[in-house]
Amino acid sequence: IVQYLADYRPYPFLLSETRLDFTLIPDATRVKAVLSLAPRDPDTPEDLVLDGGAGLKLIALTVNGQKPDPAHVSREEERLVIAAAALPRSAFTLETEVQIDPAANTTFEGLYMSGGMFCTQCEAEGFRHITFYPDRPDVMATFRVTIRSDRKVLLSNGNPVGQAQGMAEWHDPWPKPSYLFALVAGDLVSISDSFTTMSGRKVDLNIWVRPGDQDRADYAMESLIRSMKWDEEVYGREYDLDVFNIVAVDDFNMGAMENKGLNIFNSKLVLASPETATDTDYERIEGVIAHEYFHNWTGNRITCRDWFQLCLKEGLTVFRDQQFTSDMRSAPVKRIEDVQALRARQFREDAGPLAHPPRPDHYEEINNFYTATVYEKGAEVIGMLKRLVGDAGYAKALDLYFDRHDGDAATIEDWLQVFEDATGRDLAQFKRWYVDAGTPHLDMVEQWSADDAGGRLTLTFTQETAPTPGQPDKPARVIPIAVGLIGPNGDEVLPTRILEMTQPQQSFDFEGLGARPVVSALRDFSAPVILTRRIDDATRAFLLAHDTDPFARWEAGRELAMTALVSLSQGQPGGDDYVTAIGELIADDSADPAFRALCLNLPGDEEIATRVFSLGLTPDPDAIHAARQDLARRIAQTHQDLLARIYDRMQVTGPYAPDAEGSARRALRIAALGLLNRIDGGQRAQVLFGTAGNMTERMAALACLIRLGLGDDALAILHQEFQDNRLVMDKWFSVQPMAAPPDSAVAIARDLAARPDFEWKNPNRFRALIGGFAANHAAFHAKDGAGYDFVADWIMRMDPVNPQIAARMSSLFETWPRYDAARREKALAALERIAALDGLSRNTREMVSRMIAAG
Ligand code: ARG
Ligand code: ZN
Repeated sequence: IVQYLADYRPYPFLLSETRLDFTLIPDATRVKAVLSLAPRDPDTPEDLVLDGGAGLKLIALTVNGQKPDPAHVSREEERLVIAAAALPRSAFTLETEVQIDPAANTTFEGLYMSGGMFCTQCEAEGFRHITFYPDRPDVMATFRVTIRSDRKVLLSNGNPVGQAQGMAEWHDPWPKPSYLFALVAGDLVSISDSFTTMSGRKVDLNIWVRPGDQDRADYAMESLIRSMKWDEEVYGREYDLDVFNIVAVDDFNMGAMENKGLNIFNSKLVLASPETATDTDYERIEGVIAHEYFHNWTGNRITCRDWFQLCLKEGLTVFRDQQFTSDMRSAPVKRIEDVQALRARQFREDAGPLAHPPRPDHYEEINNFYTATVYEKGAEVIGMLKRLVGDAGYAKALDLYFDRHDGDAATIEDWLQVFEDATGRDLAQFKRWYVDAGTPHLDMVEQWSADDAGGRLTLTFTQETAPTPGQPDKPARVIPIAVGLIGPNGDEVLPTRILEMTQPQQSFDFEGLGARPVVSALRDFSAPVILTRRIDDATRAFLLAHDTDPFARWEAGRELAMTALVSLSQGQPGGDDYVTAIGELIADDSADPAFRALCLNLPGDEEIATRVFSLGLTPDPDAIHAARQDLARRIAQTHQDLLARIYDRMQVTGPYAPDAEGSARRALRIAALGLLNRIDGGQRAQVLFGTAGNMTERMAALACLIRLGLGDDALAILHQEFQDNRLVMDKWFSVQPMAAPPDSAVAIARDLAARPDFEWKNPNRFRALIGGFAANHAAFHAKDGAGYDFVADWIMRMDPVNPQIAARMSSLFETWPRYDAARREKALAALERIAALDGLSRNTREMVSRMIAAG
């Protein structure tokens, strides 16, 4: 059944307090719930409809202590309905008791078991698998929770109010929707610290892990403290409970969850040591700890009215965690990384059958909408808003937002209204960014007249957005275009200025320029659009050398590489200008090593395929792979000595620290290694794998060796060393199919999948192998369809066990319409095979039918 935004209706009952009492037994947990309810409008009697999954076994039910007449109670597929006739016209208490089986719960939604501990995941609609409840975000209540269990550590939301042998009580004074409920019971140990808030409240901080893991949680704790401080300083947001608990669990469908006062994390986003985690892992831990913490205000204190508004909390919280990381590390590097990720995941989504707006207006399964569009495009939209209203306007609007909506379940309309009221700006047109899908194409044409107005440059922009499923027409959007001008001698003649485009086509003049400047456009990636312009390689190389905006500078190099790769993949020549320009850039020691690393890393095969397709051509995965190999080898040959020098000089001596400086040097060093590896027979990688004291360099070296077919010894060593460490073993499973030469990757992936330690029901392990394989573009898109079949088989195996993961994985197929007829036929056959699976979940069915519909 499809849910529509337009059908929103407030819940007809008010819920003031929720009391829960859990008796935790792995296969027979009892949950008693006492709900304090009142009809919203006593004059209009309504049935009480409670959500409740098929796994709930109803043991007892009373209304004001009385059993209702059974004729007034009906159990439907996923609901329990108590007829209006059985309900008082004023406040009443509903008591239920259910029995559930967490031990048999493989979906990792609701209450489940992971490594012997009980834990929960309720967003979006998991709470209904714990008890009968109005499981929707606009129904908010305070919670009192009693947990009875033989486990040592018993946690829930809010503050601890009672503790006895085998029992704990928690009270959360902040009204919250059910999706923010959490419970954990396990034999855990903690690392602890504290934080004193700006108003002087001392908060106990605990990170709970399994015994043995406590020496790998320090970085997460430091990140939490930095996040709490930052949110006070930058947003004036203070924490509001006496304790803040984080728990790491091995079986988790997503990254982490912002449950009030009790964040639950995928262990890979908490646990790190130099021997086991890479620089990228550390950066992600810091970012996700911050993200979940920031949700306390943007998500929890102000939540969403309904799930269509998901980007209200997610887009804003991603935007905030991006700001945080920019402040903690390098802002330009973070921006470039974010744009790369946006293009790789969100542009791809926006251009295919799964395209949807940041605020969708219908869905079948909400879990299918935790997407790059809702999260990352949602964050970009806020970045544009901030650009348009300015920093002061943004700060004013946010203050008003927190002030006006604290305690509310809000909407995108509320959010925009706050900006309108705070800044006086009309945002009617801006709203299109929230409600329209698709990435605008923005074309820029330059016109120069030396004789007019002391030298006039006219920039004419044209915007166009292609139709997306269900949205044929795309009205013009407001696009903030950041532009700067560079004079012929390389000096900036016009610093960054925001052009506000509102029309389908619009021109902007710059006068009194004297000589014709070079345009630096879409600086800092000021809008999530695809910019095209007529520009030659020499001008790109000029911008790569002289642009003062780091993003635009990187972009110039990226475009040089990209046009070369597209050309090479079409059997045309290309790349000489890029090879020359990149040599100059990486030799420039005044440039940040991390920035140079970003410039040196070529776009991946998938990104090249996306570009080829956007030019109206059909991507050939094998030709793209070969083109990329060819260009990389040429860079290595041409700059052999320079790269070797960089490789040596960027070695970091002394103890490992996962900070920006150290990771920057390692990033440049391993970028150089990746190129040198193509001409040194794997010699450097061999040495580095054996000597590096950190996982960043060891994994890079391992990937290099695998690429050359020389990985066996190193893989055996790593396995020997870390077979008991799940997180390292996940890397071991993913690097093999990902780095393998495409023609051997399917066989490698099949062998790995047959191993007894391929614990495929663990989401991290499953993603490591299946996702790792699919990241090998030419292997996944193998002409004979073997890659499609491998992935489809595993989706079908996963679906009955964990539909969320199966559905999520199925989106690997979303690019299928762009390939040649032979591949399309094979991919479509794989999708149809999935669609025909007996008992296919609603999650996966929705995904595959949207993708098949594009055929
Ligand atoms: N709110 C969480 C976060 O972004 C994501 C949880 C989503 N879980 C899910 N099963 N859809 O931080
Ligand atoms: Zn989030």
